[in-house]
Amino acid sequence: MSKLCIQGGKRLNGDVIINGAKNAAVAILPATVLVDGISVIENLPNIDDVAILNDAMRSLGAVTNFLDKHTLEIDASTVYQHSALDECISKMRASYYLLGALLGRFGKAEVAMPGGCDFGGRPIDQHIKGFEALGAKIEVVDNVIRATADKLIGTRIYLDVVSVGATINIMLAAVLAEGTTIIENAAKEPHIVDVANFLNMMGANVKGAGTDVIRIKGVEKLHSGKYSTVPDQIEAGTYMIAAAITGGDVYVRNIIPEHMESLSSKMREMGVEILEGDDYLRVIAPDVLKATNVKTLPYPGFPTDLQPQMAVLLTVATGVSTMIEGVFENRFQYIEQLKETGAKIQVEGNKAIIEGVENLKPTHLKATDLRAGAAMILAGLKAQGGETVIHNIKYIDRGYESVEEKLAALGANIYRKSSN
Ligand code: EPU
Repeated sequence: MSKLCIQGGKRLNGDVIINGAKNAAVAILPATVLVDGISVIENLPNIDDVAILNDAMRSLGAVTNFLDKHTLEIDASTVYQHSALDECISKMRASYYLLGALLGRFGKAEVAMPGGCDFGGRPIDQHIKGFEALGAKIEVVDNVIRATADKLIGTRIYLDVVSVGATINIMLAAVLAEGTTIIENAAKEPHIVDVANFLNMMGANVKGAGTDVIRIKGVEKLHSGKYSTVPDQIEAGTYMIAAAITGGDVYVRNIIPEHMESLSSKMREMGVEILEGDDYLRVIAPDVLKATNVKTLPYPGFPTDLQPQMAVLLTVATGVSTMIEGVFENRFQYIEQLKETGAKIQVEGNKAIIEGVENLKPTHLKATDLRAGAAMILAGLKAQGGETVIHNIKYIDRGYESVEEKLAALGANIYRKSSN
């Protein structure tokens, strides 16, 4: 087990290159099961979640080959299994995409109930509602979800909650179905558009991704092709906040600035200067950060996946800020850790009230989940007068490529140490 050690207080300066989006990659890899041929996926992040899915694809019978560390060639024509029950895959949230993809390809699928970060209840009733509407029969026995269908037939599905996972999963199941499927109240995140673009590149007919209503006209088959994953909005946001919290001046490159709008607006309210280029943002920290109020919402609202990182920035802003979690039932588990740094935070239900302090103290912190882990790094970059040590970093490695190398290149004093 490794840990990250940080001597905070260094201003970050320079350029950071953002990788492909984790949450697009973890949907596109399962989606390749639908392709009767070879998919070449470029700009994949080199993270543990991608490695786990690559193994899962191989155990289903796909032939995969990394052409370089960010490009994977997948021949899914050899997939013969419709069961994905490995313990490793079941720990991932994205394992549920194998359900939609295998159901779409074989008319049957068996997948272990998805795990993932613990934010309170994370039901999958909307995924099931969608599969059933398409004509599948669903059973959940001993923590395994089984879906079977003689034939999937397109239909109209209204999502009762805006769900990224359900939107993508229904898209996957519907791509090869007979007739047209209409998803209403669909999620609009950049990775939804990215998965739709991938499917269309392979011959699917998906229209409206990125709006509330997605129309999927079933096609007979998907063909070979090459696709490049969209840049990671959340990784980009994490580095933008790292620049701001360290008093830095950082170019965050290889991104789509429009995807960062909700974060850029809030950071500007706090006094941060953000200059925009075609595929980069330059983030220049002010002398003093001002308090603000943030509420997380589905895209284009402020992303829940940047909530813990933004909360850390608010801990050192002058005045009282509020952070409302509007997507998940309980995404504040990390706050007890953060308080160890001297942050003044009070939680009332889904609202955190944050009173800005001058600085944070170095201490030992635990990553309680992926984005909470990123938030602990940000706290460590700020904390002065000693070493911050972050434990449980396996969560961070699931979603951030080379985080310590990227931060060190910007001037942070951070290194990885094996725990004894
Ligand atoms: N929900 C339901 N029923 C469902 C599905 C969702 O009630 O059938 C509720 C959830 O409980 C939650 C809300 O709807 O309150 C939104 O959940 P959503 O389905 O959108 O989330 P998800 O698919 O489980 C994905 C990302 C998360 C990200 C959320 C929201 C993946 C693998 N995970 O989760 O990413 O927080 O969307 O944007 O794409 C992360 O990257 O750190 C991460 C947790």
